[in-house]
Amino acid sequence: MKIDAFLTEQFFTEYEFSSPYLLAASDCETMSIGDLLAMSGSSLAQLGEIQLGYTESQGNPQLRKQISEMYLEASPDDIVVLTSPVEGIYLAMQTLLEKEDEVVALRPAYDALTNVAQHLCHQVLPWNLVPSTESWTLNFEELDSLVNEKTKLIIVNFPHNPTGYLPSPEEFERLVAFARDRGIWLFCDEIYRGLEWGHTIPSAADLYEKSIVLCGLSKTYGLPGLRAGWVVIRDETIRTELINWKHYTTICPASPTEFLASQAIRVRAALAERSKSIIEANLELCETFFEKHHQLFTWRRPQAGSVAFVEMNQNQLVDSSAEAFCHNLARDKGIVLLPGTCLGYEDRFVRMGLGRSGFQAALNALDQCLDQGYTGA
Ligand SMILES: Cc1ncc(COP(=O)(O)O)c(C=O)c1O
Repeated sequence: MKIDAFLTEQFFTEYEFSSPYLLAASDCETMSIGDLLAMSGSSLAQLGEIQLGYTESQGNPQLRKQISEMYLEASPDDIVVLTSPVEGIYLAMQTLLEKEDEVVALRPAYDALTNVAQHLCHQVLPWNLVPSTESWTLNFEELDSLVNEKTKLIIVNFPHNPTGYLPSPEEFERLVAFARDRGIWLFCDEIYRGLEWGHTIPSAADLYEKSIVLCGLSKTYGLPGLRAGWVVIRDETIRTELINWKHYTTICPASPTEFLASQAIRVRAALAERSKSIIEANLELCETFFEKHHQLFTWRRPQAGSVAFVEMNQNQLVDSSAEAFCHNLARDKGIVLLPGTCLGYEDRFVRMGLGRSGFQAALNALDQCLDQGYTGA
């Protein structure tokens, strides 16, 4: 294999559709096409009229206008509509990176964010999010030590999968200033944007002309089956080159998806509120659960997003491995937690997904197993 295994997808392939209790999903509760149409005041008849011809490669102009209105500094010309959010990572890395380049990428990370860069260029250096007692922190001294004249790109993702970390506006501006001073590109994955409870930060697209911003409707808006995503690129040369790469992958967005994405964006505030209220209720369940099981887990409440990264007490696990615990838990009990090792991190963390309405039943199932003394054996 010429590229590292996509461990998260491999893990989900094994368990996602055969296990009754999903506690690891990063997307939020979804809905039917009928429900989305009803919510947005459109009809099945309108969907039925959509032509199944090729569409504009860069994306439908009206949809790009709607998307651009989510940013302060972006125009419809700066938007490229994708055939899935994950496609944007592949296209951006192919566009920006040469063999001799170095990249700095936040760790832990969604696999694609590091693996595609790793496949294409000289080296990808991890910039570690560091666990503190209650949350996670960014270490700018470490970032400084990782960067040199070969560094082409810094890859970040805020709100962050899997920790739920969100930098303060000052920290985010510091990161942008750091990149700008050195002429380094910033790839900012903002797919969980809109799921904040406390502070918010601006989009990198509004702060930095050398940024590529990824977003889509899979997580915050609960519509992963739509495969709707986009990138915002203000630099015309890089945008044109990215569109050239797109001609080799998917050519153009799917017309039914563009229609439905446009309906969803019209009601995006309501969709995000729906996801947030599910997450808030699930976070309250977590508080009680982790207080009860504090000897096995260290809980760091996420600041934003739909996932949390939970530390496990290795001494209490068979083989001292959170990864083994996750596989056994899924096989023995049908309860799915994602091992932190899939996200490039130490073997004592698991990712928990908070956006699904089946969360309470799944958490109760895990609670029962632990009450019965289950340790992964
Ligand atoms: C940080 C991040 N970026 C991008 C994606 C890709 O989204 P999609 O699967 O909808 O293409 C994911 C999916 O889990 C993600 O967590």
